[in-house]
Amino acid sequence: MAQSTMQRAGAALPRGLDGVAVAETAVSDVNGTEGFYHYRGIDPTSIARTATFEDAWFLLHFGRLPDSSERAAFADRINAAMAMPPVLRAALPAIAALGPAGSMDVLRTAVSAAGVALGCRPWTEQDAAMTEQQMIAIAALTPVLTAALYRLARGLPPVDASCDLSFAANYLAMISGEIPAPERVRALEIYLVLAADHGFCNSTFAERVIVSSGADVGAALSGAIGALSGPLHGGAIDRVPSMLEAIGDASRVEDWLRDRLDRGERLMGFGHAVYRTLDPRNTLLREVAREIGGERVALAQAVERTGVRLLNERKTDKRREANVELYAGVVLDYAGVPEELFACTFPIARMAGWTANLLEQIANNRIYRPAARYVGPPLR
Ligand code: ACO
Repeated sequence: MAQSTMQRAGAALPRGLDGVAVAETAVSDVNGTEGFYHYRGIDPTSIARTATFEDAWFLLHFGRLPDSSERAAFADRINAAMAMPPVLRAALPAIAALGPAGSMDVLRTAVSAAGVALGCRPWTEQDAAMTEQQMIAIAALTPVLTAALYRLARGLPPVDASCDLSFAANYLAMISGEIPAPERVRALEIYLVLAADHGFCNSTFAERVIVSSGADVGAALSGAIGALSGPLHGGAIDRVPSMLEAIGDASRVEDWLRDRLDRGERLMGFGHAVYRTLDPRNTLLREVAREIGGERVALAQAVERTGVRLLNERKTDKRREANVELYAGVVLDYAGVPEELFACTFPIARMAGWTANLLEQIANNRIYRPAARYVGPPLR
């Protein structure tokens, strides 16, 4: 009754559920006004330079950072889950042939196939420990699949994960076939830790909606990649390098950005649905990019300064700054991730937060079934 009253009341609906709390979570939070976020009370920007990605994943999963024996056990668990099921390995060449290497759509298809290959079933109809193991396995397989699809598209055989390497080092080694230098691994690790989770973002909400129906975790995690792939969400990451490429030179920044905005287009790597001040992920990635140095970084900085000025000149309702995507490409490039794989590297990181969110949703599930205000013709 209350709901139908609200539906007919004519009150403005919050577009995109902007600012509407739809669940309680203890996994992570974003404070867009003050410009910080945290994983279970810990600031990722304060641990990113030293923590491994496995540490961040453990934190999101279990609610605290691991001690040394827990760190080793969790790393072993993830490493063991990186072994590709034979039936999935056999299917990969056909999946790789479906579309361009490095597209999140192809990865989403492979992750969906991984869910089937791992025997994922509705979590309401199977043991909880099995559901948890399946989500860890899908997350651990995501870099394996990304690298294998990339290599298959180049006519190269996939490289298996090594039990001697960390998650981040394995990803780089599975791409290139070579053991990566420690400083490259660290750069990747910083990105992965920063991008591991981010509150109730679009893709997290999407996967929680999917799993709330009892659907299997393979469906939820491949659906999350689908949501992340949109250019307004994670799909911005590989549009930034092409923007920098098209601008080419610092002298062209202002004209190029103005022209984009005059045509009503969005500047990739700018703006955020929640942050109304600096995006802390951008602040740290900019710092790392400056340490890397080079012309591309100088150009990105010029783009950031001018883009922020132009955006805030044009619209003064709220503050808009550069987001996590602007320097991500520079850092990933330094780490040794090919540009084609920038987009797929984002879900590799976000799987950590997604799995933690699935566990939380399953632990206290109620099917998501919101209402819409009907504005079509009345019943005839
Ligand atoms: N370029 C140009 N105009 C912008 C931009 C931008 N990057 N961001 C916001 N605006 C303007 C637009 O005029 C928009 O109005 P419109 O909907 O009438 O076109 C208005 O501001 C929207 O304002 P906000 O409330 O600040 O942003 P919203 O929550 O609607 O969208 C979003 C946020 C999708 C991230 C947006 O800023 C955007 O499209 N950015 C570019 C894509 C991008 O970088 N995405 C990555 C985000 S980070 C992440 O998801 C991991």
